[in-house]
Amino acid sequence: MRQPFQPVHPPRGRRAVFVFAALAGALLVAPAHLAAQAPDPSDIAEGARLFRQKGNCQSCHGWAGDGRKMDTQMPDGANLRETRLDRAALIMTIKCGLPGTGMPPFDKFAYSDGRCYGLKQADLRKAGQRMSDPPATLQNREIEYIADFLYAKVIGKGPMNHEKCIEFWGQETEACAEFPK
Ligand code: HEC
Repeated sequence: MRQPFQPVHPPRGRRAVFVFAALAGALLVAPAHLAAQAPDPSDIAEGARLFRQKGNCQSCHGWAGDGRKMDTQMPDGANLRETRLDRAALIMTIKCGLPGTGMPPFDKFAYSDGRCYGLKQADLRKAGQRMSDPPATLQNREIEYIADFLYAKVIGKGPMNHEKCIEFWGQETEACAEFPK
């Protein structure tokens, strides 16, 4: 689907080597720094708010991020619970969107200066691609909060069920009624 643009998914081998090198470096220099990276609960809560409201990610990805969109008029968003993207690729995807799909770019300056996959508006036009407008643009810090939220509550967490739903909302809510106890 997104044939001409694949930098979001670098070849697996190369990425593994890169991640390993970065990790080894981090472990050697700064173990304390790594521990300090666990996101603050208030950052996760802020990310959840941005996912639901300002970014309105849920209109296409569903409140649980499982791809069951909230708005039937919207394109089918991916199931984020199953995404394989690492944090850097996830953030790039939110900033730049995915040409050739309905995923909009949330960086105000996406495609203005080559920061997105090295492409500018004119390149997209030449390739016959039109990116849709995001519900709102997001600042880098807001995108980091959304990533904190997604990795804490959505990505790799498996399908939603009653127990996870309560954990997700912090209490029993209407949304959890659809999942059998
Ligand atoms: C207008 C609908 C829409 C909105 C709003 C939207 N997305 Fe998407 N998103 C999509 C579509 C469509 C795809 C591509 C699905 C596919 O691969 O076919 C996608 C793909 C993605 C992917 C890539 C998943 C993968 O594994 O490749 C991520 C990550 C993502 N969206 C995150 C977000 C976040 C976070 C927000 C809110 C800041 C958001 N999206 C808002 C429609 C949307």
